Amino acid sequence: MGKITTSIATIDIAEPLPFASGSFDSVIRQNVVECVADRDGLLREIYRILKPRGSAVIGHHDFDGVLIANDDRALTRRLVHGYADFTQRWQDKSEGQMGRLLPGLVANRPFREAGTETLLFVDLVLSKESYARIHLDGIVALSEKFGVPAVSAKAWLRGLEMRSNAGGFYFAILWTYVVARAE
Ligand SMILES: C[S@@+](CC[C@H](N)C(=O)[O-])C[C@H]1O[C@@H](n2cnc3c(N)ncnc32)[C@H](O)[C@@H]1O
Repeated sequence: MGKITTSIATIDIAEPLPFASGSFDSVIRQNVVECVADRDGLLREIYRILKPRGSAVIGHHDFDGVLIANDDRALTRRLVHGYADFTQRWQDKSEGQMGRLLPGLVANRPFREAGTETLLFVDLVLSKESYARIHLDGIVALSEKFGVPAVSAKAWLRGLEMRSNAGGFYFAILWTYVVARAE
């Protein structure tokens, strides 16, 4: 059985990856491709550090591909799109529609083959552990930065909590992943 070495390190994925070529059987990237300006360069680096026939699993939510049941549709659209279009302080760049753009980005760059699938993550209850909770709290925390007063965003979230208690909550977000193989 092969030796397994584990380590935790913080690396800057906008820079050349600090690993020798052909180091890994598999590389997993989730929700980070949108953060860097040179996305083709990141894909080339992922390819470089893969062993021959190694595979990369690259996943991304589509932050603009969000469905929320709410009576105030105009405010819901403003909040969803405003959040998707906003570049956070820990990003060099952002792309709220990366989920739908990812297959085109990965295709033939420089992988031998790439298969893709899109799934819908659905929450019917706004529980503390739900992805919906993380996403909706993020929207409310940043709403003023994209022009929606915090008081309106907080009232909107309270409305969603009431919906959840009453059984009418629905939150869904698209998630796309690509499995790409090196030569
Ligand atoms: C949307 S979060 C995703 C985190 C995690 N992969 C997940 O799915 O929960 C994006 C993460 O990428 C990190 N990030 C952004 N730019 C980066 C860079 N140039 N190098 C390394 N990490 C970066 C951010 O700090 C943030 O933690």
